[in-house]
Amino acid sequence: MKAIAYQQALPINDPLALQDVTLPAPEPGPRDLLVEVKAIAVNPVDTKVRAGVSPEPGQWKVLGWDAVGIVRSVGAQVSLFKPGDRVWYAGAIHRAGANAELHVVDERIAALAPQSLADAQAAALPLTAITAWELLFQRLGVPQGEAAARGQSLLIIGAAGGVGSIMTQLARQLTGLQVIATASRPETAQWVRDLGAHHVLDHSKPLAQELQNAGLAAPHYVVSLTQTGQHFDQIAELIAPQGRFGLIDDPAPGSVDISKLKRKSVSLHWELMFTRSLFDTPDQIEQHRLLTEVARLVDAGQLRSTQGEHFGHINAANLRRAHALLESGKARGKIVLEGF
Ligand SMILES: NC(=O)c1ccc[n+]([C@@H]2O[C@H](COP(=O)([O-])OP(=O)(O)OC[C@H]3O[C@@H](n4cnc5c(N)ncnc54)[C@H](OP(=O)(O)O)[C@@H]3O)[C@@H](O)[C@H]2O)c1
Repeated sequence: MKAIAYQQALPINDPLALQDVTLPAPEPGPRDLLVEVKAIAVNPVDTKVRAGVSPEPGQWKVLGWDAVGIVRSVGAQVSLFKPGDRVWYAGAIHRAGANAELHVVDERIAALAPQSLADAQAAALPLTAITAWELLFQRLGVPQGEAAARGQSLLIIGAAGGVGSIMTQLARQLTGLQVIATASRPETAQWVRDLGAHHVLDHSKPLAQELQNAGLAAPHYVVSLTQTGQHFDQIAELIAPQGRFGLIDDPAPGSVDISKLKRKSVSLHWELMFTRSLFDTPDQIEQHRLLTEVARLVDAGQLRSTQGEHFGHINAANLRRAHALLESGKARGKIVLEGF
């Protein structure tokens, strides 16, 4: 099968950082689906692994943790899917990625893809939807329903990125929270408004002052999706007493002093969307359930694709361009690729 892979962790401007190769097709395990990949999205995790993790000498490493495709065969214990099903999923970080014509994924972390979206539009969503859903509803405990959190607000820092683009929609559509998004450019500010943000602040300025200038009350919920080290002191200053703070990125060591949250009794919540698959937790099937629910909400017209740019076919040259854009920190929504 065709695949895009590498043998050595390299900067993205090196042509060997991602290469077109031919690899043997994977074999599905007992609970696996063998999927013919139709479209993928690129995530910052791809760039972090590519830049920092080399495979064993002589081995190829395949990245890619967002896919839409058709199930071609199933393992002996699979009960949720059958050949011919069109599925979407984000996969598992400790297994090979989906930048390949054929890919295997555990059925418990996959779901039927939304029928109303084309392959590339759908590929934009799984990884970030899992992240945003788990962080909002399962880690921070935001109540669903229009009435439940009315009068409270959620500040989403870095809202125009992949995770923020779906979290903004989830918060607006499924909760009564006032949604305050941050974006630093006119086009990203407009993007988050279109996705449902009630207010937009500029994260290139001190956020506590931005909040005050906008006349907004201290948010009970704050999520920091990127550059947490840069924003953490402002977050501690602006968050409401007894508020909840969530983060997903990799702040530099020493850049986050959690003791600054003590005075306000603010709780800190980590989200890593790979935790369930990595540790084979008994509740792994929650990701099947939440992706099924997100597909239903998409087909009902409540959520939309966060596709930003379509970078063409799935090959090394196009993936190198996608990695370079993500590494610049200037992506808006998701970058998707389609077909081999
Ligand atoms: N833990 C998990 O499960 C998980 C899951 C997904 C992602 N992540 C991590 O979360 C981070 C964000 O992922 P993503 O996919 O949303 O990234 P992304 O799509 O690359 O985010 C791009 C956005 O970041 C914004 N941004 C750039 N510099 C910023 C700054 N200094 N402060 C605030 N925002 C800034 C930009 O907005 P402007 O152009 O408006 O400045 C841009 O729209 C990455 O580190 C990723 O690895 C973790």
